[in-house]
Amino acid sequence: MRLVLIGPPAAGKSRIGKRVARLLGLPFIDTDSLVVAAHGPISDIFATHGEPHFRSLERAEVVKALSADAVVSFGGGAVLDAETQHDLARHPVVLLTVQPHAVLSRLGNGKRPLVADVESWIALYEKRRDLYERLADHTVDTSDRPTDQLAAEIADWA
Ligand code: S3P
Repeated sequence: MRLVLIGPPAAGKSRIGKRVARLLGLPFIDTDSLVVAAHGPISDIFATHGEPHFRSLERAEVVKALSADAVVSFGGGAVLDAETQHDLARHPVVLLTVQPHAVLSRLGNGKRPLVADVESWIALYEKRRDLYERLADHTVDTSDRPTDQLAAEIADWA
């Protein structure tokens, strides 16, 4: 594994991660997409089986992703798992942050069961902020900058 992108929902982990992967000539892996490909829509998994079940499916995909030579974007809550936190110590980790004013336009596709609105996004981010910061080797604020510029900065750092 070459690089892991972590951060709250709507920070741009997938959008920017894809671009970083292209710049580095590596495959791109998104743990949410792996879960969806294997088990169906995330909102359905939450609704039918609950969050703990989703987290165990997500952990299994994280293990696979971390063994690949790739740029990997984590789902926002993948870092809640203690074993994943431990595993991340062996990888370069970039935290993507975003300010509340930029979140609104990025939410609303109905795919995120834990963040229906900006208020719930803020609550979730505040709960996880210390954890995200502790796990990160490098932090980039994605709020008001173009994807190309952000991806180039991250690829240079990697
Ligand atoms: C979650 C974030 C989502 C997805 C799931 C739970 C979270 O991924 O894994 O809805 O707990 O923060 P994104 O960060 O890609 O939205």
